[in-house]
Amino acid sequence: MHHFKRQDGVLHAERVPLPRIVEEVGTPCYVYSAATLRRHAQVFSEPFPEGTLVAYSVKALSNLSVLKLLGEQGLGADVVSAGELERALRAGIAPEKIVFSGVGKKVSELEAALEAGIHQFNVESAEELRMLSDAATRLGKTAPVAMRINPDVDAETHPGISTGKADDKFGIPWDRAFEIYNCARDLPGIDPCGLDLHIGSQITSLAPFEKAATRAKDLVLALRERGFDITRLDLGGGLGVPYKDGEVPPLPSAYAEAVVRITGDLGVQLIFEPGRVIAGNAGLLLAQVVLTKTQTSKSFVVADAAMNDLIRPALYGAEHTLHQVTEKVGQPAPYTLVGPVCESTDTFARDAALVAPEAGDLIAFGTAGAYGAVQASQYNTRPLVPEVLVDGDDYKIVRRRPSFDEMLSLED
Ligand code: LLP
Repeated sequence: MHHFKRQDGVLHAERVPLPRIVEEVGTPCYVYSAATLRRHAQVFSEPFPEGTLVAYSVKALSNLSVLKLLGEQGLGADVVSAGELERALRAGIAPEKIVFSGVGKKVSELEAALEAGIHQFNVESAEELRMLSDAATRLGKTAPVAMRINPDVDAETHPGISTGKADDKFGIPWDRAFEIYNCARDLPGIDPCGLDLHIGSQITSLAPFEKAATRAKDLVLALRERGFDITRLDLGGGLGVPYKDGEVPPLPSAYAEAVVRITGDLGVQLIFEPGRVIAGNAGLLLAQVVLTKTQTSKSFVVADAAMNDLIRPALYGAEHTLHQVTEKVGQPAPYTLVGPVCESTDTFARDAALVAPEAGDLIAFGTAGAYGAVQASQYNTRPLVPEVLVDGDDYKIVRRRPSFDEMLSLED
């Protein structure tokens, strides 16, 4: 569900026609819908019992204004770096609602999070546990810790975004779980109060989640038998979103029903780290057609957005639905849509059905809110793509396009 709709043949974000934004901001640019973000925050949170922490995965879309908006909806934050921690705090998200994930947190990052007094460290190795214990002892703090145990569940998703199989780099192997909790019990400055899992991203069926939650429940019970007071269960993120018409991933309510059915009687605080399901369908990337050209047998549309602005197609073969912002009359024909970057992987779509595309046309890439702007780079010295947040009939530029002076100011 999102608030990008056509009105009189022109695609709108809520009540704002997209061409109006382009007049002021230019292209490429990301456009987000505040109403969609609010709705997703609500739809994800509502079905869970009181006390559940929904820690939005900041990596999906980390713009400060978006974090502020989600924070106002009651969401916490799942961060994976000192930078993301800084963003979450500056957005006004309370430290008690922040969890820190990631396989390689540096001592300086652990220290920053200890100083801030965050809710939980998701620890991924015995080595990290020792680093955290040292840092906590030095600072005179106790770190609330959930061990990220790798449940060896196949998330049935793209290999590039699967994280819960035995040989993925993430987490602690299942058969070493007791060993690591014992180690935690013996270390000063560590409170091993939770269990954490995350099996992957863009997961489109409930089965892998159910398997993982069942394994988690068994482990919580086994840990309690061994005297560990496990009071928190963090089940990570990963719920998928529809990228194409006709795709129907499970609704958050069905996901919640399954999780609560499996873990409800454990009496733990449930924690989730959703990213894509909150931000994915709340954003579009807008581009303008620079030119069209025909090679020997193929027709190309060259847009002014490129792989540096939206890398998902080049990186994962992801397909984003394309919309011609202003409807055109005629028969669609197949075009290859590319960007101007000097790489053949700078290809957004092959055989995209477009109606008479020509220079100046606006094209919107759907479902680009998550892992879009955050993965943008300045490759080819292209400015980082700006971001716009629409709210009703108003919009705000929440990250402006940098000038060349700004881009080059950090270099000698
Ligand atoms: N928690 C942890 C520990 C994670 O590693 C991730 C995502 C999440 C939560 C949020 O997962 P989500 O709810 O968004 O599925 N760049 C890729 C996605 C990488 C996901 C990495 N981890 C893409 O563009 O598809």
